[in-house]
Amino acid sequence: MIRDFAKRVYAIFDPLYLDEYRQQRYVFTRIQEKGLLSAFRGKRILEIGPKHGRDSRLLAALEPEELVMIDLPEKKAMVNTWLAELPHPERCRLILNNLQYMSREELAALGRFDLVWCTGVIYHVVEQIRFLRRLFHLCKNGGLAVIETEIAHGSFLQRRNVVELIWPGPFHGDSSVTHLPSPKAMMTWMQMVGFQEIGQQPILSRHTRRTRAVFTGRRTESSTPYDIYGGQSAGNDAYFAGDAT
Ligand SMILES: C[S@@+](CC[C@H](N)C(=O)[O-])C[C@H]1O[C@@H](n2cnc3c(N)ncnc32)[C@H](O)[C@@H]1O
Repeated sequence: MIRDFAKRVYAIFDPLYLDEYRQQRYVFTRIQEKGLLSAFRGKRILEIGPKHGRDSRLLAALEPEELVMIDLPEKKAMVNTWLAELPHPERCRLILNNLQYMSREELAALGRFDLVWCTGVIYHVVEQIRFLRRLFHLCKNGGLAVIETEIAHGSFLQRRNVVELIWPGPFHGDSSVTHLPSPKAMMTWMQMVGFQEIGQQPILSRHTRRTRAVFTGRRTESSTPYDIYGGQSAGNDAYFAGDAT
């Protein structure tokens, strides 16, 4: 009750926080207001971790050629409460699987996407650089990834290129959160796996950006992931960051 009151007062001084406090889909809205989503009508969109489907509705309303959603099998019952209500349900497809553990064949069958939307997911992933590399592979050339996540807490860590280890946790009662990168660390990983035009989007309220951040990155023709031992010039195969089997 007191906490709730404090948040309401806070919202007066930080208007961006008001939407966030009211649980609006503020990442989607603000990314859309920046004009970053206008290009995806008639294109392929992938959403990781739709859970309650609030972003799925907004993504489906962009009228993509196809909206593919991947969530864990445990979310089946929850997702089935809203799946049929999406705009253009005939263009929407749900896959119940763990993206991190899908086989090469399953990943290849997904094809590539113009937009990969991944909010609130990656901090639940133990091997985040490998997960980012999967997101990269799933982008077409020219494709955009939007990634929102919990980040390392506190300005001391956030000014540095570091990862905060949480394990064995739990983190706010959640044992699936094992480590939290600072924004610099997240952008370093994005660069290592090959993304270009990487940026932290300055769209969150002062309050929320103490713990969360939104990143965008693009796969381009000239993307160059980090090749750990220098690849063929050194007489090796290419050992790209995040691709180990
Ligand atoms: C905190 S919820 C985020 C929901 C929503 N995207 C949002 O931003 O509010 C995280 C979702 O990601 C899903 N998830 C976590 N790890 C995943 C993985 N490796 N593959 C697929 N889905 C995953 C969870 O099941 C859950 O539905």
